[in-house]
Amino acid sequence: MGLIASAQGLKTVEKARLAKGWARQASIWYGEAHVELPTLKRFLAGKVAVRQENFEAICKAVGVDWKQIVDWEKSGQNRVEDNFDIAQICLKEDCNEMPDVQVFYGREQELENLKQSILQNRSRVVTLCGQPGIGKTALAAKLAEEVKSDFEYFSWRSLNYAPPPTLSELLSNLIKFLSHNENIDLPNNVDDLIRKLLQIFGDRRVLLVLDGWENILRTQAVGVSQTDYEKYGILLKLIGERKHQSCILITTQEESKELSSLKYIPSVNSIRLLGLDLQASLKILNAKKLIFAPQQAEKLINDYKGNPLALNHICEHIQKVFAGNVSHYETKYTILFPLEFEAAINDNCECLSKLESDTLQSIAIESTPIEYEKIKLQIQNNFEVSNSDLQIALSSLFERSLIERYSQGSAMFYNLQPIIRKCVRKLYGLT
Ligand SMILES: Nc1ncnc2c1ncn2[C@@H]1O[C@H](COP(=O)(O)OP(=O)(O)OP(=O)(O)O)[C@@H](O)[C@H]1O
Ligand SMILES: [Mg+2]
Repeated sequence: MGLIASAQGLKTVEKARLAKGWARQASIWYGEAHVELPTLKRFLAGKVAVRQENFEAICKAVGVDWKQIVDWEKSGQNRVEDNFDIAQICLKEDCNEMPDVQVFYGREQELENLKQSILQNRSRVVTLCGQPGIGKTALAAKLAEEVKSDFEYFSWRSLNYAPPPTLSELLSNLIKFLSHNENIDLPNNVDDLIRKLLQIFGDRRVLLVLDGWENILRTQAVGVSQTDYEKYGILLKLIGERKHQSCILITTQEESKELSSLKYIPSVNSIRLLGLDLQASLKILNAKKLIFAPQQAEKLINDYKGNPLALNHICEHIQKVFAGNVSHYETKYTILFPLEFEAAINDNCECLSKLESDTLQSIAIESTPIEYEKIKLQIQNNFEVSNSDLQIALSSLFERSLIERYSQGSAMFYNLQPIIRKCVRKLYGLT
């Protein structure tokens, strides 16, 4: 049964709330009641019914007797009044660009941690970083589906365009949406648009997803009119630093300097996404109806490091060329990658400095992990390199999701995943 509070009852609730010193829609209130913000809003609006258990929990949290404040007559009718604008309390969504993720395996732990970060820890910036095809967009979409009811507005914006939208374009559209597309006077410079968005982020709880952040960085790198793109970094920094009630979720193949420097702010959560685990990866092999022995599957999954894009690609290839039989493929073993994977790695490499590119090639030319000292020696065959420059180059390659690192005893080793090694060797003509 659903319940509606009476006008008098809501006054009692209001007094109890003020006595506690809580804001009207205080997160502590709906947090203690274990309900979502829209439920509290419905309760406070006193127009539509709220599930009895939620109604009781909201009253209990604020310290009033729920039986004393119910409007029994209205609750019995359980109807929405004609002139009540239900849109005022429902989530408003703007997600035409969001993919419809129909197949999604594993990632339970990641989803749980991210949900906690957004709902409980109230992270203001969450970034999902990882190599092409690792599943950032799919995870962001899944996550957004699960947390969006905690927000008043949800917008998904793709940056996967060449060129991506300028910040002015993006903010103008976004602010229009957040202002219900009313004829508002939009500021005509990007700084004022940023200020306006921050003000809205403080007034309302907005979930904004920006998918494909690396496109902004690459636009900068090729030297197109930069100012408006650079301001994306400033926007992000301000969203991380300022106090507000909204959240921006970003997916990116590379970390930018703004993303790295944000990591030290407590309300920022940066996750490096790795491949799917064995069980989830096996589901891809099974869905593609491959025939394999357990150890064959393990090798395949390990070679592609659980990258779902690459796994789907190789499974389809094995299905086409070897009738799905992994044993046949093994005898003619070769690493293959999808074209979009190669294109993304090439784009990434195009932005490297000379030292970064030389470092990457020194690692790629080896077929096993290579030690720090050996990389240094190889580079020094051509020119002198200091430890600090080499370490900055390694750090940049790591942030770009191009290399991996291991420590063994007192030595550090660097490596490339097989598919990245193959792409890099092809790009630089290494044999
Ligand atoms: N958990 C998963 N289970 C099954 N399939 C998945 C999963 N995650 C991603 N995929 C599939 O893998 C492919 C790549 O995923 P996605 O587009 O999310 O990668 P991405 O990291 O965003 O790549 P890019 O860096 O190119 O944007 C898609 O076809 C997607 O459906
Ligand atoms: Mg993506």
